[in-house]
Amino acid sequence: MHIVQWQLPQSDDLNEQTVDVWFANLNVSTHEITQGWAMLSALEQDRANRQMRDWQRNAYIATRTILRSILARYLQLAPQEIIFEVNQYGKPRVATHQNPEQLSFNLSHSGGYLLCGVAVGREIGVDVEEVRLRSSLPSLVRKVLSHDEQATLHTLPAENQTLAFYQSWTHKEAYVKAVGRGISFGLASVEVAMRSNRAAELLRIAGDQHEAKRWTTRQFTPAPQTVASVVVDGENLTFRYHQYATDSSIIP
Ligand SMILES: CC(C)(COP(=O)(O)OP(=O)(O)OC[C@H]1O[C@@H](n2cnc3c(N)ncnc32)[C@H](O)[C@@H]1OP(=O)(O)O)[C@@H](O)C(=O)NCCC(=O)NCCS
Repeated sequence: MHIVQWQLPQSDDLNEQTVDVWFANLNVSTHEITQGWAMLSALEQDRANRQMRDWQRNAYIATRTILRSILARYLQLAPQEIIFEVNQYGKPRVATHQNPEQLSFNLSHSGGYLLCGVAVGREIGVDVEEVRLRSSLPSLVRKVLSHDEQATLHTLPAENQTLAFYQSWTHKEAYVKAVGRGISFGLASVEVAMRSNRAAELLRIAGDQHEAKRWTTRQFTPAPQTVASVVVDGENLTFRYHQYATDSSIIP
């Protein structure tokens, strides 16, 4: 796993060789939820209202509010002005006419946390998962890992297998999100190296080593019992890691 140095954002400038990674706790105050609501588009408000439970509604509002606040820093727009579009597989992006610098982003949420990656002129995918023993783990392993990967996983010490699985899963998800296809790409065709106590690594994409080498990856533990992956196309990139401060000074 990479050791990341969390820092306060020094500048809102991003160049093509820099990638910003934001991590936020979605458990924000009622006051922030009320303020955030006004920032949402009619579509987002509608989706918020369709959430079954209060905590899901609040987490959704917090996600969209934080995402808008992060992107606004780079776009010179007010958070509520940002218009989103999606590709045919549902990957969101900022509307082309608002995005002359070709800012790209991707987000993931799990276990009350949000991870958001931002880059310029590059494809980016992120994934965060809460590492936990679940009864569906064996069937998930069969769905997500290729036959070879399943065999490799079972050669690792038993106490390392759960984490190694989550490390490979987040890498695969971050890759299929970076290319914008989501799970329709087929997670088992994204092959990763799995080792005890080491970050996963992209090995082959649909059998192609060159495609795997085209991407820079980072894997880290942003909070206890969580694992996160970031996959970005290109090399020689500098990653900056920011903890998003959910206080009312951030949400206008
Ligand atoms: C994207 C996907 C991998 C998400 O996996 P997940 O682990 O359940 O969820 P995460 O929290 O990591 O990511 C969800 C976020 O990914 C983004 N996302 C959605 N589709 C995406 C895609 N195709 N590529 C990249 N990112 C995508 C969204 O921002 C989404 O957030 P939202 O649900 O709040 O809108 C999975 O849902 C998927 O493959 N969806 C595509 C389905 C599809 O093909 N739809 C076609 C018709 S729209």
